[in-house]
Amino acid sequence: MDFKDQSHLVQTYKKFDITLERGEGVYLFDVQGKKYLDFASGIGVCALGYANADYNAALKTQIDKIIHTSNLFYNEQIAKASANLAKACGLSRVFFTNSGTEACEGAMKVARKYAFNKGIKGAHFIAMKNSFHGRSLGALSLTSNAKYQKPFKPLICGVQYAKFNDFKSVQKLVRDKTCAIFVETVQGEGGISPATHKFYTSLRRLCDERDILLVADEIQCGMGRSGKFFAYEHFGVLPDIVLSAKALGCGASVGAFAVSERVASKSLDLGDHGSTYGGNPFACAAINAVFEIYEKQNILQNVTNLTPTLEKALNSIKKEFKFIKKRSGLGLMQGLRFHKSVKVAEVIKEAQKRGLLLLSCGENELRFLPPLIIRQEHIDEMQERLIKSLNEFL
Ligand SMILES: Cc1ncc(COP(=O)(O)O)c(C=O)c1O
Repeated sequence: MDFKDQSHLVQTYKKFDITLERGEGVYLFDVQGKKYLDFASGIGVCALGYANADYNAALKTQIDKIIHTSNLFYNEQIAKASANLAKACGLSRVFFTNSGTEACEGAMKVARKYAFNKGIKGAHFIAMKNSFHGRSLGALSLTSNAKYQKPFKPLICGVQYAKFNDFKSVQKLVRDKTCAIFVETVQGEGGISPATHKFYTSLRRLCDERDILLVADEIQCGMGRSGKFFAYEHFGVLPDIVLSAKALGCGASVGAFAVSERVASKSLDLGDHGSTYGGNPFACAAINAVFEIYEKQNILQNVTNLTPTLEKALNSIKKEFKFIKKRSGLGLMQGLRFHKSVKVAEVIKEAQKRGLLLLSCGENELRFLPPLIIRQEHIDEMQERLIKSLNEFL
């Protein structure tokens, strides 16, 4: 069979010319056996890299016990997973979904119901420019990308976009009908950009004053990528709702939204929301394995230790190549913004030839999302391969 046969797939993805077969640690191998250093981690999913023995064993054990039960029954794995996530994020009530997009949809419903219970119908949302929250009609309404939105209008009514890291622009949009402010603590798809401490704490204060829900989208930047479980911990701020997915399952398709006890008690009731698969025993076994391995392998500490090394490597690359405008990021979520003269898509192809996988984001930005298990030597290897690739553009 031709692995590149696309004739039965809906053509929504522009693919790289690589057929991956297996992975080991931070390396991936294609069907010809070519080895790639992975600084993409399945778009921020595979935080534990590949073929982690403990993770695989936990999943295999669960497969042999039971994969799915529906949410109509109790199961040990969902009880453990909800406790693990609640402890990590500081919000006590969790709803499991199958993806990040669905977590975002669920949070929109929580916010609308919270407002509805206060007598507000058709409540409004504030999201940020350059945001990404997903592609379903609800999540897409919060994703301020004209190209993604245009063919699918009308979207959810009452969404307005503020400028990220510009508190005044948020203040200007607040109305009596505003029920929630959605913010990625570190913007990802729209270009890597961490929220400032001042912006985040101001959002928290505004939300407290106006009884608006602060929703932290931590789907990409959460689960340890910043060196803390959730990036908002860097600001000493607790949102009302947090969205998680990607590295929460490290490969098993899971997502979740977590809400504070107060918001939970004033929003979704029995029958208000549901998901057939969401939080099934298999998905939750993956989540529990992730939390166990994070602790055993000291993942958060590893990210904190290696962040300065990665930042130093990227800063020195930026200095060497004048067509790189800017480095920005938090933890092991970093971006190099390029001037228009060099196309990031071409850089990614050159890097692939040299066995290095990278991603793009924003307008012309190279994105670094390595597995969180990387070591110093992997950063050195990335730097060497990327410099060789960039030399092609001099
Ligand atoms: C910040 C953010 N929110 C939401 C999503 C959507 O998540 P999913 O693709 O799991 O539906 C993504 C995916 O890239 C994301 O980065």
